[in-house]
Amino acid sequence: MSHKKRIAIFASGTGSNFEAITVACEEGRVPADVVAMVCDKPAARVVERAALHGVETFAFDPKSFPSKAEMECAIADFLDERNVDLVCLAGYMRIISDTLLSRYGGRIINIHPSLLPAFQGARAVERAMEYGVKIFGVTIHYVDQTVDGGKIIAQRAFPYEGDDIDELFGLIHAVEHQLYPETITRLLAD
Ligand code: GAR
Repeated sequence: MSHKKRIAIFASGTGSNFEAITVACEEGRVPADVVAMVCDKPAARVVERAALHGVETFAFDPKSFPSKAEMECAIADFLDERNVDLVCLAGYMRIISDTLLSRYGGRIINIHPSLLPAFQGARAVERAMEYGVKIFGVTIHYVDQTVDGGKIIAQRAFPYEGDDIDELFGLIHAVEHQLYPETITRLLAD
């Protein structure tokens, strides 16, 4: 019988972090199984990625729910049915609210493309570059009622003095794809 922890990944877009975590689990570098993917954009690339890896997906149009509470209730039911231990937000562009926090609080983590608490919220990388930042980075933190304000679990920084936003996104993603699986492994061991 498997005693591996069960992970759900929430994403809204490309899903390169979904891919990095899922492959790390498949290869045994992370001692867990990705058993669920939640997506608020049914046409997003991450939905195809999940299908290719055989990960059960709950992809929905938020407008199809009468309220955010009912939407989060449906998400929490989907997680409950799959006995999810840990929720990893990976480019999920919605704020998690009380309904989901009351059922999964303390078990939801997020990756953010800045050295928090700097550049919380949307367009963090673009805003950091516009600001003239020279040390960029990535943060993994617990999710609470605040936006990108929960307790920090891990950070990794690197210098960048160029002005090519695509190159910078590539560097950020490369760091994320290492740091997220490593951090999940560390958390699951604790
Ligand atoms: C990642 O860079 C992640 O840090 C960011 O979205 C990207 C998703 O990429 N998240 C946020 O900005 C959250 N505020 P991916 O879909 O290729 O994993």
